[in-house]
Amino acid sequence: MAQLLGIRIENYRALRDIEIGKVAWNKGTDLPKAVCLIGPNGAGKSTLLDAFGFLADCLREGVEAACDKPHRGGFERLRTQGRHGPIAFRLYFRESPTALPITYELQIDLQDGRPIAASEVLRQRRRSEKHGRPYPFLKLANGSGQAWSGESTEGEEAATSIAVALDDPTRLGITTLGQLKDHPRIVGLRAYIEGWYLSYFVPDAARTLPPSGAQRHLDRTGANLGNYLQFLRRTHPDRFQAVLNAVAAKIPGIQSVSCEDSPDRRLLIQFNEAGYADPFFQANMSDGTLKLFAYLLLLQDPDPYPLVGIEEPENGLYHRLLRTLADEFLDHARGERETQLFVTTHAPAFVDALAPDQVWLMQKKPGGGVSVDRTADIPTVKALHAQGIPLGSLWFSRHLQERGFEGA
Ligand SMILES: Nc1ncnc2c1ncn2[C@@H]1O[C@H](COP(=O)(O)OP(=O)(O)O)[C@@H](O)[C@H]1O
Ligand SMILES: [Mg+2]
Repeated sequence: MAQLLGIRIENYRALRDIEIGKVAWNKGTDLPKAVCLIGPNGAGKSTLLDAFGFLADCLREGVEAACDKPHRGGFERLRTQGRHGPIAFRLYFRESPTALPITYELQIDLQDGRPIAASEVLRQRRRSEKHGRPYPFLKLANGSGQAWSGESTEGEEAATSIAVALDDPTRLGITTLGQLKDHPRIVGLRAYIEGWYLSYFVPDAARTLPPSGAQRHLDRTGANLGNYLQFLRRTHPDRFQAVLNAVAAKIPGIQSVSCEDSPDRRLLIQFNEAGYADPFFQANMSDGTLKLFAYLLLLQDPDPYPLVGIEEPENGLYHRLLRTLADEFLDHARGERETQLFVTTHAPAFVDALAPDQVWLMQKKPGGGVSVDRTADIPTVKALHAQGIPLGSLWFSRHLQERGFEGA
């Protein structure tokens, strides 16, 4: 499965000019399988996760529709205040652990008052060349340009390109070419970005009983929890109860979880609690239990998303449950799972479980814009952590030197 090695963002709301991880073959360190973002309010953590959602929306619906989503408010509201250049992204990713990394660059700008994909470039190095500039296999400006088909930028494939002219410049080239068999790397990128998932879990949404019908993935708010379980039960009948048992074992006070069908075929989730003869259903469960249940289930998805963003999982969770979630996060970090996780948090207890090369500190810069620093790169943090002081405690006691509006 593909993994994001790094991302560079310019002019996207508070993110005037930031990069995390490796953004070119000779610049930066690969992002790990689990990335945690911390920092004061307004430091751009949600914006960074929204940038992932924005890219996925651009791919699915075009850049104009992505800019105009109600929570984004249009291009002019999205572009960093005071800036005039395009909103720009550079993704550096690898399709599989053995593949050569690919760079995808996208610039979005206004043309006659409409946001369009002003520039789109995909590049990959040649295996035969250890160093040097990667070769393009897609190069579009305002919807016109060239694409090189095939699996690599070597040999004959590199020599044959086709002219591309999109009739709608608000659509991405990777949306169109990502449907063509001749362009396997673009097909791969499209599938990868389409698979990104952001969770804004809302316990009340998960309490409702949605109409019957299996659904492949959990939705953003968790409102289709029952549908997702129906899907798991149908596609993995042999593993279904084992997954539920594994999840139940991690939730304190819950002896088992099972599923029943209501007379109108909707799925009822039964939580068997210690000390009670009768089960409780999702409508009666606490926010925290339901939340932990949904996150654990999401992370056990047998058909996992390549990238999952989770916002502030600590809300409503008892600190011990937060530790359970942190342990899941660490499981991902060890590379045992396929999903790459991005989690924002304000909870030092969550961060205590993590290492400095898994945590990035975001802060507002005094002159505008924000900075993003890997905590492992902050002087003294690595040394203090190596002495046994947990990272969350260092953060809490201001050893991460927050210099944003909190003032350090
Ligand atoms: N177009 C913009 N230009 C510059 N800054 C912006 C723009 N839109 C929003 N912001 C800034 O982004 C901040 C919100 O960032 P957010 O990602 O929600 O922070 P966090 O999740 O870390 O609390 C706002 O406080 C505002 O300062
Ligand atoms: Mg936020």
